[in-house]
Amino acid sequence: TGDKSSDVVWHQASVTHDERVRANGHKSAVLWFTGLSGSGKSTVANAVDKLLHDSGCKTYVLDGDNVRHGLNGDLSFSDVDRVENIRRIGEVSKLFVDAGLIVSTAFISPFTQDRDMVRKQLSSGQFIEVFIDTPLEVCEQRDPKGLYKKARAGEIKNFTGIDSSYEAPLSPEIIVNTADKSVKQCAELVVEYLREYGYLS
Ligand code: PPS
Repeated sequence: TGDKSSDVVWHQASVTHDERVRANGHKSAVLWFTGLSGSGKSTVANAVDKLLHDSGCKTYVLDGDNVRHGLNGDLSFSDVDRVENIRRIGEVSKLFVDAGLIVSTAFISPFTQDRDMVRKQLSSGQFIEVFIDTPLEVCEQRDPKGLYKKARAGEIKNFTGIDSSYEAPLSPEIIVNTADKSVKQCAELVVEYLREYGYLS
């Protein structure tokens, strides 16, 4: 990427990243939620966002369903388009992190390679992978949008977990097992990580 803009010179910002971080009183990072459809990514990401916002942090949520209506409205659920989806979200996340925010992203992001690519684009500690580890059976039973039912009936093709793969993270920073926890408990677990590792001090 970037080869089409070789004559474009990066402009040095007059307010530095460090100055933004100091003004905000917390470090910036992306909380990269990944998991199956219906696993609870958006729900937990929004609950984390609310906790952080209420304690005075500068935050934002980037959500699969919303971003696919706008920025990524031209992308399908083919493998190639999912890769491009995550690449763009990675770039947007990087801008939000540069702006000093704690950004929570809630995308299935099914491929390890793409998540690792985003990790590499950010500095050490700025990418926090949060695996929402809800088993397929539970997601399918919940089926909040009726999409699993449609996928099983063959009405939706390339549905993650049915006829499109999901590669679970091997060493995520945080694993959230939603099956035996409330949304609040899941969100507190994530905020606790940020506190423990000095993001909020
Ligand atoms: S991905 O794989 O990261 O590009 O997907 P994402 O951008 O997060 O979008 C997932 C949401 O899109 C709806 N949807 C599908 N998901 C998976 N596979 C197929 N084929 C599909 N078609 C539509 C679905 O509502 C996902 O929402 P979540 O919030 O994950 O349940």
